[in-house]
Amino acid sequence: MNDPATVKEGDMSQAANAKGRIMLACHDLTRIYREGPQDVTVLEGLELEVRAGERVAIVGSSGSGKTTLLNLLGGLDRPTRGEVLIADESLLDLGETALGRFRNRHIGFVYQFHHLLAEFTALENAALPLIVRGQSKKAAESRARELLIRVGIAERADHKPGELSGGERQRVAIARALVTDPSLVLMDEPTGNLDQTTAASILALMDELARTTACAFVIVTHDPSMAAHQDRVLKLDDGRLTEQLEPI
Ligand SMILES: Nc1ncnc2c1ncn2[C@@H]1O[C@H](COP(=O)(O)OP(=O)(O)OP(=O)(O)O)[C@@H](O)[C@H]1O
Ligand SMILES: [Mg+2]
Repeated sequence: MNDPATVKEGDMSQAANAKGRIMLACHDLTRIYREGPQDVTVLEGLELEVRAGERVAIVGSSGSGKTTLLNLLGGLDRPTRGEVLIADESLLDLGETALGRFRNRHIGFVYQFHHLLAEFTALENAALPLIVRGQSKKAAESRARELLIRVGIAERADHKPGELSGGERQRVAIARALVTDPSLVLMDEPTGNLDQTTAASILALMDELARTTACAFVIVTHDPSMAAHQDRVLKLDDGRLTEQLEPI
C-alpha cells in the first residue's frame, strides 16, 4: 500500500476512474439453513450494491444473519437462491478451484474469530495470501511487514497467535486481509477487541485505502463510531437490508 504522500498521480486518477463502478452486487440473495429439524431462513431476497471506493457498514442484532451474509459475499458459502457478483464476475459460475483463486485475487476477509494459523508467526500469517498466490517468501514477508507496521503490531511479527492478545490477533487478521491489495474487503467485527486509539488507526488506514485505491469495504460492526465513519449504514433485519438513518 502506498503512503498518500508517495502515491503517484497516475495511481490516483486510476483509482478515481475505477470509483463509481459497481464492485459488489447481490440480487435476490437467499440463504435457508436446512441442517436441523426445521428450516431456518436467514436471508431472503436481499439486494445490495457497493461501488468501488465505497465503504458500507452493516449493523443488526445478534443472529440476524450478518456473518451468513459476509460468508456468501466472500464465496465461503453458497446461496440457496440468488447471486453474488464481484467485479462483474458471478461467483455461481466459478467451481471450487476457480473460486479459491478468485477470492485470493479479489477479496480480503477479516473473520469474526480471526482464524489465524496457530503454527505460524504473525508475519507468516499475514504473508500467507501472497505465498498462496505464488510470491517468494521474501517478497511476501516484506510486504506483510509493511502491513504489520501499518496496523501497529510490527514488534510482535515473530510471535505465534497463541502468544498474542485478542486485539493483536485481530490486527494480524486485518493485515492479512489487506496484504494482497484486494478489490473488496469484508470485515466481521474488525474492531470488536480493540481500544479506541487502535480502532482509530484502523479507521485511518481504511480511509487512506478508500481514498487512494478503488477498494470497496463491507464492514459488519456493533461499534457506533465505526458505523458512523462509513459512507452508508445498512441494517440487516428480517433477512433484508434497509438504510439505517438514525445513529446506532
Ligand atoms: N450452519 C448453520 N446451520 C443452521 N443455522 C445456522 C447456521 N449458521 C448460522 N445459523 C443460524 O443463522 C442465524 C444467523 O447467524 P449469523 O451467524 O449469520 O448471525 P450474526 O448476525 O452474525 O450474529 P452475531 O452478531 O451473534 O455474530 C442464527 O439464528 C444462527 O443460529
Ligand atoms: Mg456474526
